[in-house]
Amino acid sequence: MLETLNPPQRLLMGPGPIDADPRVLRAMSTPLIGQYDPAMTGFMNTTMARYREVFQTTNQWTLLIDGTSRAGIESVLISALRPGDKVLVPIMGRFGHLLAEIATRAKAEVSTIEVEWGEVFQPEQIEEAIKKVKPKMLAMVQGDTSTTMNQPLEHIGEICKKYGVFFYSDATASIVGNEFKTDDWGLDAVSVGLQKCLGGPSGSAPITLSDEFVDWIRKRKKVEAGIRTEQHQDGVEPFIRSNYFDLPMILDYWGEERLNHHTEATTMLYGASECARIVINEGVDNCIARHRLHGAAMVEGLKALGLKLFGNQTFKMNNVVAVYIPEEVSGDLVRGQMLEDFGIEIGTSFGPLHGKVWRIGTMGYNARKSAVLQTLSCLDACLSANGYRGPKGEAAAAAIQFYKSN
Ligand SMILES: Cc1ncc(COP(=O)(O)O)c(C=O)c1O
Repeated sequence: MLETLNPPQRLLMGPGPIDADPRVLRAMSTPLIGQYDPAMTGFMNTTMARYREVFQTTNQWTLLIDGTSRAGIESVLISALRPGDKVLVPIMGRFGHLLAEIATRAKAEVSTIEVEWGEVFQPEQIEEAIKKVKPKMLAMVQGDTSTTMNQPLEHIGEICKKYGVFFYSDATASIVGNEFKTDDWGLDAVSVGLQKCLGGPSGSAPITLSDEFVDWIRKRKKVEAGIRTEQHQDGVEPFIRSNYFDLPMILDYWGEERLNHHTEATTMLYGASECARIVINEGVDNCIARHRLHGAAMVEGLKALGLKLFGNQTFKMNNVVAVYIPEEVSGDLVRGQMLEDFGIEIGTSFGPLHGKVWRIGTMGYNARKSAVLQTLSCLDACLSANGYRGPKGEAAAAAIQFYKSN
């Protein structure tokens, strides 16, 4: 007899993925329906409307890309950038490198600027680089979980408008845990994922696109043979070098034409739609405030443990914190014990921070008091058990005190 899949119970307190909200999992176990069932196309329209609220936009073209967050990134970059088009990518962590990597594979001419991990860019640095590079697009991450920094974006849109540059942001890790205003901040394209503050599983990438951006990518339109009709006209610009991520075809699937591009991942759509419904019912601003509260409680507890925080705290994301691993303990042994003995996962790190910091998230369904207190008590116990010489037994009490006064 083959065994049924029976994953262990975990509390996922790393930088994402996190435990999906049970309501999202329930929505994902509801029956499948046909791709063009009016109920299904109705759900697609409802999902578009819900994500307009999440993204704080009136953009008609607000929809899901099937795939993990990088599917959203890739769809935007490969649809917008012709080979040789210039793109500017400010890099403040691992995911800036990812944007540059994807743009390079799209054969764009990629220029990067960098700040040290743990810092963010000032608008003047971006403007300076835009003047120099004259890119078609600026592509930058808002919340980069690799460093826990949240790049302020509110003044970048004006700069992009001034120089006629498309403004794209990957807000996968920050959306609904930190302020994000697509229209007010002048964004042309935004992509996210479910597995952070939206409280869902990885596997669907909501995106939103401005009308100007859609006008541009439609110039690269090419409808595939087999579904192409006499009405379909090729765009005047070189066609998009990916079929799966061809946004003009995907838009026509989500739009009135219902072009038969791919088979929508129905179960993921149910999940994505439920994630948005939960956030909207809570209120986007309340959801951000909840992430701020529980993120701050976690920080209080970590400080009471005598742990040093990584990065410029003025710009820390609400939903994740990085702390230096004390010299006298093994980071891997502590994390291992947390997982094996308590079923709690916290995160390790990449690149220059590898082996130096742990990353602890409070996001989505896990941005709640019980998850914060369990994690702090567990870390406290595991540090003690692994020879930590700093303060003991005070982490949860400090967080409880913080909750009392906030
Ligand atoms: C800011 C950011 N962008 C992109 C990604 C990549 O997401 P995925 O692994 O879902 O493709 C992540 C994942 O952690 C992320 O934090």
